[in-house]
Amino acid sequence: MNLILLGAPGAGKGTQAKLIAKKYNIPHISTGDMLRAAVVNETKLGIKAKTFMDKGELVPDEIVVGIVRERLLGNDCKKGFILDGFPRTVIQADALKKALAETGKIIDVVLNIGVSEGELINRLTGRRSCKNCGKIYHTVFNPPGKENVCDVCGGMLYQRGDDTVETVKNRLKVYCKQTAPLINYYQKEGILKTIDGEKPVDDVECAVIALLDEVA
Ligand code: AP5
Ligand code: MG
Ligand code: ZN
Repeated sequence: MNLILLGAPGAGKGTQAKLIAKKYNIPHISTGDMLRAAVVNETKLGIKAKTFMDKGELVPDEIVVGIVRERLLGNDCKKGFILDGFPRTVIQADALKKALAETGKIIDVVLNIGVSEGELINRLTGRRSCKNCGKIYHTVFNPPGKENVCDVCGGMLYQRGDDTVETVKNRLKVYCKQTAPLINYYQKEGILKTIDGEKPVDDVECAVIALLDEVA
């Protein structure tokens, strides 16, 4: 199953992608996570990407398309994959279609997770992530047992640099202008499914699995 998770910043793409990846045993490909790893490692790509990410702007299409193209060639993607945070522009969506066509693949389903703007801001400003295993928490909605410590691996939790109110507001603007048009794009292709992302994590997961079981 080749899947795209679409949704505004904070909609729960990462949270749901991790659950889907585990259940269906397919890789979770998050361009945000890949770029953040490059930033931490201070690679050439990371140093360039950081200037855009810190402002909540999109990293240029050619950079992101390049890293996704390469990742999709991985052996583990043969049985399917979940794209989280990619594509984010019509240019990226066209490039993805072309790259998949070269290997005889298509996207089976695009899940659009819908959440209202006020809720998105609450979610992002309270998010914490594990430095070690990447598990996603929220100070109110999904707190760890012990403050700032990961329940799973004991790693330290951190707050993403782009989760400040100012940057979140710009990320939401960028999403509306550059990414929201993809809803129409995939609707026209007949592969868009919409999920109410405002419900608790478990309810959203149930709705996602019900939809995917129909497709798989
Ligand atoms: P990226 O890392 O992709 O960030 P994003 O799209 O802004 O999305 P988030 O990761 O913030 O939110 P999410 O939907 O994953 O929500 P989560 O599950 O964590 O991108 C970051 C930056 O990288 C971009 O700004 C850009 O610069 C660059 N970039 C990345 N991809 C790019 C691309 N393709 N092209 C160009 N540039 C790119 O959940 C959020 C919070 O809510 C958590 O605290 C969680 O616990 C909580 N939560 C989740 N679900 C629920 C629920 N149902 N109820 C209550 N709380 C919930
Ligand atoms: Mg994410
Ligand atoms: Zn952890």
